[in-house]
Amino acid sequence: MRTRRFFILTLVCVSIIGLIAAVSFFRRPITIHARIAEDGGFAPDNVKARVGEPLHLRLISDDVEHTFALGQSDLQPVILEPGKPVNITLNFDKPGTYTFYTTTPSSLNFWRMRGVIEVVGDGEPQAAEPPLYVRLGLNLDEKHEEEEREHIELTRQPSAIKGESFVDQIPAIYITHDYYVAHSPMEIFGELRAESALQSLNEEELWDAVAYIWRQNISSTALAEGKRLYLINCAACHGENGAGDGQFADEMKAIAEQNKDEHGIQTPTDYANAEHLLEAKPAVLQGLILRGGMGTGMPMWGTIFTDEQTWNLVAFLYSFQFEYQGVNQ
Ligand code: HEC
Repeated sequence: MRTRRFFILTLVCVSIIGLIAAVSFFRRPITIHARIAEDGGFAPDNVKARVGEPLHLRLISDDVEHTFALGQSDLQPVILEPGKPVNITLNFDKPGTYTFYTTTPSSLNFWRMRGVIEVVGDGEPQAAEPPLYVRLGLNLDEKHEEEEREHIELTRQPSAIKGESFVDQIPAIYITHDYYVAHSPMEIFGELRAESALQSLNEEELWDAVAYIWRQNISSTALAEGKRLYLINCAACHGENGAGDGQFADEMKAIAEQNKDEHGIQTPTDYANAEHLLEAKPAVLQGLILRGGMGTGMPMWGTIFTDEQTWNLVAFLYSFQFEYQGVNQ
């Protein structure tokens, strides 16, 4: 009798241990190491997962502080302190290729620290509509022909609030979203200047009207989201105030001067310089963010941000030129 009970007890224990072992085997996380880009970046940089099955990751930095951020997801960037592993579990409800990256400017090439999670399974993959600049037939590189740029001299920052007082005089066509995405502020300024309804306005007031039109195309929440994304992802190079003076600006400038052949790293764009933003169409800026500067040091963000996030970023960039209440630094 005793032996039998002992036998059953042993069997139960063995089964429980077996079950725990099996569960932990399947839950065993995949370890991803993070090292500065110059030492290899993330390893492995390609991970597979299935829709509906949790993906357990163990993240560890082998050198300095990094972050693990995941594009097209709600995951808040996870901070990885050197030598301290962090376990996370990801769940995917759509198949597709998801990019992970760092938001910590750990070295000059930090933006090259990227990897992908390939998620397979049933369901529609992320819809990939061609970006607006393609649909509008715009050339992303034409704006780089600097010599064709008109020099814009503003006497003061155009103000959306001041522009609001002209709302009754501004023809409705200029306030539509379709018009906004396809025209630069400079183009709309030219149109407004020619409008008979606006003849009484001086140049400063016309620019206020342009700032007002721009502000009408974005909600306050979306603008705040654009600012948040900018500070996390762009300020290291473009600078907190958009003046192209982020922490790597000097290093990038030195490299840019060494290889003056126009290919290779360039200095981050200075948005304090009026021409950059006032002569750029929103659809072109969005395209440049999606595509990146192709080897210039401007990363491509197309696989990371949703369409909405890129539009919020574009709208926020213009706030470096336009005075929007509650947004400007
Ligand atoms: C690693 C540094 C770096 C980061 C990070 C970075 N940029 Fe850039 N960016 C550059 C450089 C360098 C250029 C200039 C090269 C070029 O024009 O292609 C540039 C150019 C651009 C341009 C083109 C502007 C113009 O007038 O030609 C846009 C728009 C832009 N960046 C937006 C962003 C946004 C938005 C982010 C964040 C989501 C970002 N950048 C993050 C380095 C960076």
